[in-house]
Amino acid sequence: MIKISPSILSADFTKIFDAVKMLENAGADYIHCDVMDGSFVPNITFGQYMIRDLRKHTKLPLDVHLMINNPDKYIVEFADAGADIITVHAEATNHLDRSLQLIRSTGKKAGVSLNPHTPLSVLEYVLYNVDMVLLMSVNPGFGGQSFIDSSLDKARALRAMIQATGRDIDIEMDGGISAHNIKAVTDAGVNVIVAGNSVFSADNPADMIKTLKLL
Ligand code: DX5
Ligand code: ZN
Repeated sequence: MIKISPSILSADFTKIFDAVKMLENAGADYIHCDVMDGSFVPNITFGQYMIRDLRKHTKLPLDVHLMINNPDKYIVEFADAGADIITVHAEATNHLDRSLQLIRSTGKKAGVSLNPHTPLSVLEYVLYNVDMVLLMSVNPGFGGQSFIDSSLDKARALRAMIQATGRDIDIEMDGGISAHNIKAVTDAGVNVIVAGNSVFSADNPADMIKTLKLL
């Protein structure tokens, strides 16, 4: 089953409640929350208090993508705020295994994200502690960028790597995904799709979510 995780990065932050209700009504599976610190990535977005307030208004799982350096400092706060899946970047933590253990110790699902240049080999000895791998298909920091085609080969290789472990691990892909390329992405073994710009810049965002779910 393919899941759609629309990114509220591309929503109007002054109308976030309306965006959440739209996502619920349209059948979104998760809400993707892009947390940026202005250090690991060039932009700054929002933090744990946004997650806390979203939590008050929706039962949809909050898929929290931490694009922050030293994420261990904040993992417990994001868990307490109501995140359901917490994803850290392999490039942003010195002790990836420890970060993943910390996420799991809060009872939340543990995700690890790789930038486009980061090889899959960093996952080899941590997959036992991972619920989801988030492959970046753009360089993180901005919505609305173009999809990097080599991400498809990477997804195929990751799917094979996961299958070899026999574990049930989701593959999420993030960046530049639209109705034009979603089929290629899911065919490559991805089962959780992030879509920001393609949803929120559509004439009818709710219809776009429904379209993406059918493709
Ligand atoms: C990029 C973020 C993405 C972004 C995806 O740094 O992690 O989640 O919002 O946006 P689109 O779908 O607009 O490429
Ligand atoms: Zn993201």
